[in-house]
Amino acid sequence: MEISADETLLSRPWWIVLPLLVGFVTTIRFLFSILQWTYVYVIRPGKNLAKYGQWVVITGPTDGIGKAMAFELARKGMNLVLVGRNPEKLFKVSCQIKAEIPSIELRTVVIDFSGDLIEGVARLREAIKDIDIGMLINNAGVSQINPKFFHEIDEITWANMVNVNLLAPTIVTSVVLPCMVRKRRGAVINVGSGSTVVIPSYPLYSVYTGTKGYIKHLSESLHAEYKNFGIFIQCQVPSYVVTNLTPGLKPSFFIPTPSQYARSAVRCIGYESQLIPYWSHFLEYALYKLCPAEFILDKLVLKASLRIRMRSAKRAKEKTRRLS
Ligand SMILES: NC(=O)c1ccc[n+]([C@@H]2O[C@H](COP(=O)([O-])OP(=O)(O)OC[C@H]3O[C@@H](n4cnc5c(N)ncnc54)[C@H](OP(=O)(O)O)[C@@H]3O)[C@@H](O)[C@H]2O)c1
Repeated sequence: MEISADETLLSRPWWIVLPLLVGFVTTIRFLFSILQWTYVYVIRPGKNLAKYGQWVVITGPTDGIGKAMAFELARKGMNLVLVGRNPEKLFKVSCQIKAEIPSIELRTVVIDFSGDLIEGVARLREAIKDIDIGMLINNAGVSQINPKFFHEIDEITWANMVNVNLLAPTIVTSVVLPCMVRKRRGAVINVGSGSTVVIPSYPLYSVYTGTKGYIKHLSESLHAEYKNFGIFIQCQVPSYVVTNLTPGLKPSFFIPTPSQYARSAVRCIGYESQLIPYWSHFLEYALYKLCPAEFILDKLVLKASLRIRMRSAKRAKEKTRRLS
């Protein structure tokens, strides 16, 4: 269709102009997202983390994401205070890190976040009183092993989950933050969950996602509260990563190993106050966003949770059969 000199596109009927405009805006937005994605996940370099201070406190460094992040931070020359519940695992991880990076300084603090939180944080306060803490990584977390309906789980499990995922990061932050306020620099990185962004609900993981929703809101408010103190608060929201928290998962395009994930997570520290650190998780969320209505996502996520539940029940049955 040709447009003559005295006839502009906008003088055409609306049913021709509107789809063309929508197409144009959508294409521009799509191209912009690709550029942004390439910059954030491929080009953008990591920050110099030592500017916050030479030491990092990291919770849950004995397995999964936390362990991989501890290694990654050690490789960047940071000293570590490892906070975990299991003294043997803490000792083993310390030896492994020290073997790879002999120049690193390490301290360990034993706290069971579902048990001796208050006595434990007193030990943490003592352990960090003479060092320059630049960063805190609130990573320790628990979930139920398999997707379950709320009424199927006992109150002790719920209480532990709330203590480890919600109370512990709150209290640990309150212990570490005053050092940062005094120096007017520092960073707190909270590990949230993708279940609190893009998807409207996460059925069969209701309390887990509830605790991570708290972490997201706590981080946003603390970020606004402390940015004028030179303290940066960030909530990182991973989707699935292959760890003890996700039994049965195997690494794939959308599911990284802890080391793959940790490399991206450490590189993102100091940028957006809430972000998806891993590139294919971002693509996964972009796909969710294409869904035209929330109730459809609700249905899809419920179906996915029920499928995982069925598969894990099958696995458990097979295991019992093999043992008997
Ligand atoms: N994996 C995923 O797909 C995924 C997705 C989204 C968000 N996340 C989040 O990522 C974080 C790390 O999880 P992960 O996947 O790496 O799980 P993980 O492999 O099970 O590691 C969890 C860490 O937390 C520690 N921990 C658990 N209970 C504790 C307690 N009562 N007191 C002190 N420490 C305790 C564990 O210690 P032990 O070694 O002694 O068990 C371990 O070091 C969590 O906050 C989780 O919610 C994970």
